[in-house]
Amino acid sequence: MRAVRIDAHGGPEVLTVREIADPEPESGPTPDASAESDAEPGPGAEPGPGAGEVLVRTVASSLNPVDWKTRAWDVGPALPATLGWDLAGIVVASSAPQFAVGDRVIAMSAQIATGLGTWAELVRLPVRLLAHAPKTLTLAEAATLPLAGTTAVQALAALRLESRTRLLVTGAAGAVGGLAVQLARQAGVSVDGLVSRPEHVEVVREFGASTVTYSVAELPQGAYDAVLDTAGVDVSRALGDGGSYISVSDAPLPDAPGAAKSYVQESGKDLTELVGLVDAGRLKVRVAAHYPLSEVRAAHERFEAGGLSGKVVLLF
Ligand SMILES: NC(=O)c1ccc[n+]([C@@H]2O[C@H](COP(=O)([O-])OP(=O)(O)OC[C@H]3O[C@@H](n4cnc5c(N)ncnc54)[C@H](OP(=O)(O)O)[C@@H]3O)[C@@H](O)[C@H]2O)c1
Repeated sequence: MRAVRIDAHGGPEVLTVREIADPEPESGPTPDASAESDAEPGPGAEPGPGAGEVLVRTVASSLNPVDWKTRAWDVGPALPATLGWDLAGIVVASSAPQFAVGDRVIAMSAQIATGLGTWAELVRLPVRLLAHAPKTLTLAEAATLPLAGTTAVQALAALRLESRTRLLVTGAAGAVGGLAVQLARQAGVSVDGLVSRPEHVEVVREFGASTVTYSVAELPQGAYDAVLDTAGVDVSRALGDGGSYISVSDAPLPDAPGAAKSYVQESGKDLTELVGLVDAGRLKVRVAAHYPLSEVRAAHERFEAGGLSGKVVLLF
């Protein structure tokens, strides 16, 4: 099968698309990077899932900041490694009754911790990571949901929002921020947004934000009960006394009482919740650009240039 591999950390030029062995037919309870090798595919048993696992033929994935960071920085699994966290595809073998061959599914795989990258034509994952894909989206669109959506769900849960909360989301036009704004509005929360540039104001308003600004200086001081920072910008002056402040960015936390980080956890359950909202027409996803797998380097370059309104999708 083809996969996007890196042998060294660096710029987009370290990304290679090449043939590697299909996932092994059997596995232990916790699949890891050793399940893949750079060996040429050879004769033998058809790949299949182990107990509690599902084998998926990848149709699409999307780029997330962690993908370029794992490529560029000495973090993540031992090299060579397959990159990718988001997965949208078709089940080709299953040992789990919830998922049948032919089902359209999505998943998030915590590649940096497990080594199980999704940028491969076949991906074998534990069943607890999967959800059925939204019926109302193509798999290319659905591939934008897993990592960003799960991060948004879990970060908002950490903020313990109530309907009377006034929430500020930074990076509100980004993948996590844009979904967080919509999810918080669904929960009846009043949301304002901070974006990076004027042309991103309108899309965040369309997601239901009341006030959207691209200037930290314009944020009202002490006005918010809660802040979700996805942009790594210190907006602690806008937080009111006793408010909660959650950051998902890599930037150091501001010196605000109770400020904390949220780190996304794999969860088919959270994905199922997101899929329900999408299919009910209550959560919108955005695609900015599609790239075939063979142009993964160009996809990274476009993504890292920033300024996007929507995700960059990789097509298999
Ligand atoms: N902790 C976790 O578990 C977890 C999980 C997922 C993501 N993350 C991290 O969360 C961050 C956001 O991820 P993402 O997928 O949403 O990325 P993204 O789609 O690139 O969104 C980031 C957004 O922030 C905007 N931005 C940058 N600087 C800003 C500033 N000073 N003020 C306002 N907006 C600003 C960007 O605009 P421009 O493009 O115009 O610069 C972009 O719209 C990344 O650092 C990612 O690594 C962490």
